[in-house]
Amino acid sequence: MKGLILSGGKGTRLRPLTYTSAKQLVPVANKPVLFYGIEAIAEAGIRDIGIVVGDTQAEIRAAVGDGSRWGVRIEYIVQDAPRGLAHAVKISQPFIGDEPFVMYLGDNLLNQGITKFVREFDEQKPAAQILLTRVPDPEMFGVAQLENGKVVRLVEKPKQPIGDLALVGVYMFGPQVFESVNRIKPSFRNELEITDAIQDLIDRGLTVRPHIVDGWWKDTGKLEDMLEANRLILETFDRRIDGTVDAESRIEGKVVIEKGAAVQQSVIRGPAIIGRGARIVHAYVGPFTSIGNDVEIKDSEIEHSIVLEGSSVRDLANRVIDSLIGKNVRIYREPVKPSAYRFMLGDNSEVGIRW
Ligand code: G1P
Repeated sequence: MKGLILSGGKGTRLRPLTYTSAKQLVPVANKPVLFYGIEAIAEAGIRDIGIVVGDTQAEIRAAVGDGSRWGVRIEYIVQDAPRGLAHAVKISQPFIGDEPFVMYLGDNLLNQGITKFVREFDEQKPAAQILLTRVPDPEMFGVAQLENGKVVRLVEKPKQPIGDLALVGVYMFGPQVFESVNRIKPSFRNELEITDAIQDLIDRGLTVRPHIVDGWWKDTGKLEDMLEANRLILETFDRRIDGTVDAESRIEGKVVIEKGAAVQQSVIRGPAIIGRGARIVHAYVGPFTSIGNDVEIKDSEIEHSIVLEGSSVRDLANRVIDSLIGKNVRIYREPVKPSAYRFMLGDNSEVGIRW
């Protein structure tokens, strides 16, 4: 069995971060989302993984390398433009050959891994196995309709409601899917939809096995989802203090402080992670916060936020919450008159001031 991870796409819902960085490399609990997917596939015993890449391929190749870090072999498959998930399958046929494969969307996170699903698929050998979960906003996903436990219909981003069982971004296929991806036509958003290809398998009378996932699943395409995924992952951590903490600081609950991080005169209330080389000085880092490597938080308070490496937050009068702060961002207070807001923000940045 082979693995196929899709890591193209423009990440428009995470701008401005995705102007300079692939959405799959935005970290959750200080680890790129994409790495969780690679780990899940490796853990299921799969050794050959193809990663479909697009515009952001240089960055993804640099971050992931040849896969030896996870004991897997990684090959890159270049997609010229985001033409849909089924298009990605189509261009991956030379890599996959006749083997069954698991396809994993690079911005998805599943808490329970995929080992169980891969085993099930391997035993039953259906043409496809899909994972489903109930969502409050099915119009944002591919949705499956079941009858007596069988998949009867699939619709991508349904305008008329057909149920609330959304397709999770992890799929398992036999080689029959290649014929289907070649038969379907582009959708309303001008993409070859994997949802339509799976419908085509059903229309051809082949078996599509549904599996309703009971753990949590997150598609990290938007800020709120990133923060939620960050919360869910941080909660699974055990306390580990490898950095230095002075006597005037207090570390409460599940907190990870990486080697080389320094905490002085501060309170860190977990679950939270403080990356290598970070400096937390006379500050408060509250629950559900990931502070990246070499970040400085000084005379400020922050919680329920993600701060990427190299950034600094200094001398703020109000607490920072619900925020995603990119790399090398500087937020600070200037003690000069007149008092005012002064911004230097990239396109599609967002600033919220709460009174
Ligand atoms: C894609 C699929 C959709 C699936 C979703 C899961 O949506 O087209 O069927 O439910 O991933 O994350 P997209 O992220 O392209 O909107």
